[in-house]
Amino acid sequence: MSLIATQLIHWHKTHGRHHLPWQGSRDPYAVWLSEIMLQQTQVNTVIPYYARFMREFPTISSLAQAPLDAVLIIWSGLGYYSRARNLHQAARMIMQDHQGQFPDTRAMIQKLPGIGRSTAAAIAVFAFSKREAILDGNVKRILTRYFGISGYPEESRIKNLLWEKAEEALPVTYRRNQIETYTQALMDLGATVCIRHTPICKVCPLQHHCVAFKEKRIEQLPTARLRKSLPKKETVFLLLMQHQKLLLEKRPASGIWGELWCPPEIKIGIDAASYCQHQLGLIVQSLVELPILDHQFTHFKLRIHPQLLQVVSNTLINPHNKLIWIKPSDALAQAIPTPVRKLLNQHLLLDNHAPNKD
Ligand code: ADE
Repeated sequence: MSLIATQLIHWHKTHGRHHLPWQGSRDPYAVWLSEIMLQQTQVNTVIPYYARFMREFPTISSLAQAPLDAVLIIWSGLGYYSRARNLHQAARMIMQDHQGQFPDTRAMIQKLPGIGRSTAAAIAVFAFSKREAILDGNVKRILTRYFGISGYPEESRIKNLLWEKAEEALPVTYRRNQIETYTQALMDLGATVCIRHTPICKVCPLQHHCVAFKEKRIEQLPTARLRKSLPKKETVFLLLMQHQKLLLEKRPASGIWGELWCPPEIKIGIDAASYCQHQLGLIVQSLVELPILDHQFTHFKLRIHPQLLQVVSNTLINPHNKLIWIKPSDALAQAIPTPVRKLLNQHLLLDNHAPNKD
């Protein structure tokens, strides 16, 4: 067995995480959901979302039958909403094309939308005990350090090399649960010891053979991407209020925040009052500019200029029924993106008589 596998499996007995809510379940649906939620989100954030999702949609069939809106509501606040759309679509595919049975090989799992090679491997390991290698961000960090591999890990030459190393490091699987323990140990080591900044090498079971540790290159590995600064976009959010209700618009399915609810948006420099009058049929009575809100996506930064406007009209222009008036407190229970949630909390739900906190 590889040295890495022996040491990690031993380490995991006393130092691994054993009580995460999705552990102990071999239900491929539960494993799949947890792996998707954990792709871009920390364990502590995932735990309540996971519990709520499983309560609302306990089976693949219940998820497949639900309207996408209901799924997005449960996902709201977790970010990266294409994960929720793909889960929903994949659940429908499993019901239609696989007779409701979750596929049990890595190659078949990988064909479902939203599931790449590493996530497919993790599901195949935890649900079906398949001997498959994972290579997520944490594992890339562990392997680049252990083997002293420099070069940006997303570059295909480096990535292929890392997949080879990940395969070679797999344990033999004559013991029950060996592959599961090993895979969880890798994840746990990456999350708790071999962390990006100031890893805790003195407690690491792999320290003695770690090239980066021996050569004092821990902080240099994994090699960072040559950072082109992210493109910046700017937009104006119109928080339009009438009778204490806010106007929200359902966004189109494609593009950022697809099918989530947002305030109407205009380009910077456009006159809000005349936009409201001509596009929405609303007369603006007052306008306050609120503080800028910055939001970072994977590929760009968005600078939001929110404006709070009191409006009047009984002839809202709403030909596609994409617009609704909603109480801000009720909007929080809808599928809304995080910056909109922040704006509601900061500016529309305040008890005006409460003293300012700090
Ligand atoms: N990150 C990705 N998958 C995980 C899992 N199953 N447990 C803990 N962290 C994870």
